[in-house]
Amino acid sequence: MGMENDEIPVPQNVKITAGEGKGLELGGVKFVENRICETCGREYPVYSRNGIETSICIHCENDKVQQEMQKAHDAATKKRPHAIMKRFSFVPDEIRQASFESFKAETPEEQEALQQLINFVKNFKDDQTRTIMMSGSTGTGKTHLAYATAREVIKQGYVAIFVTVPELLESIRDTFSNNDSSQAEIKKIYKEADLLVMDDIGAEYVRDNSDNSWVAETIFDIINARTTKATIYTTNLSGQALTQHYGGIHGKRIVSRIKNNSTAIQLVGRDRRVDDGW
Ligand SMILES: Nc1ncnc2c1ncn2[C@@H]1O[C@H](COP(=O)(O)OP(=O)(O)OP(=O)(O)O)[C@@H](O)[C@H]1O
Ligand SMILES: [Mg+2]
Ligand SMILES: [Zn+2]
Repeated sequence: MGMENDEIPVPQNVKITAGEGKGLELGGVKFVENRICETCGREYPVYSRNGIETSICIHCENDKVQQEMQKAHDAATKKRPHAIMKRFSFVPDEIRQASFESFKAETPEEQEALQQLINFVKNFKDDQTRTIMMSGSTGTGKTHLAYATAREVIKQGYVAIFVTVPELLESIRDTFSNNDSSQAEIKKIYKEADLLVMDDIGAEYVRDNSDNSWVAETIFDIINARTTKATIYTTNLSGQALTQHYGGIHGKRIVSRIKNNSTAIQLVGRDRRVDDGW
């Protein structure tokens, strides 16, 4: 065969132009002709290798690759809120298993509260703009019911984020020193989730006066963006106490948005955390 060395002969001055170079051979690949693709109607070059013709339209092939890339991109985009949800949904251990089934309604009021949230879930696909404010003293099942609701909404395929307000703020603060995701991006997640549970609003730790205004502004920014979206709040505070908590202009504006178009649920039961042996 005379292949003394590994060098592959390189043809010199060969120009291949689709349609012109009929009969040209390059490394066993031969241009045959241009054909019209039956699928897309565009013209594509047909080559043959060792007498076997390619039957693939490069335009259709390109489109397919593009579509696959787009699909992969969409899937990644879709997954992102879930990844963030996992990262920022801080679920207290004691309610990790909380569900509607495990909520025991001992009083008509508790039965009514449970029913309201079951209805909220049932109507979610038709009405994703409702606000629920659950208030009551400690251990009465606010977080339990709020988390159970978020779980049910996630099961329906919506993006539901459960976060305690102190941790929501912490996650945004973190981005000061974390270039992984910008503050605006994280806020966008909270602003755009189909359902956001803001557990324990009013319980966040405020470092000082300037921090207080950052806290109030951040909370306002998120709540204000959610006026047409479903949000569930839980708190130990009354509306008045919450207004005072944030203070000034922000306090009034925050509480007014929470109250707008919202269902108030008061949990007045006993503290389920207290065990009788204390
Ligand atoms: N009606 C109930 N049936 C069953 N378990 C309950 C009920 N209410 C509360 N619990 C349980 O009691 C514990 C405390 O409830 P939860 O955390 O929901 O209280 P909370 O109202 O959010 O209190 P806090 O104001 O202190 O945040 C949880 O483990 C929860 O699962
Ligand atoms: Mg709670
Ligand atoms: Zn084609």
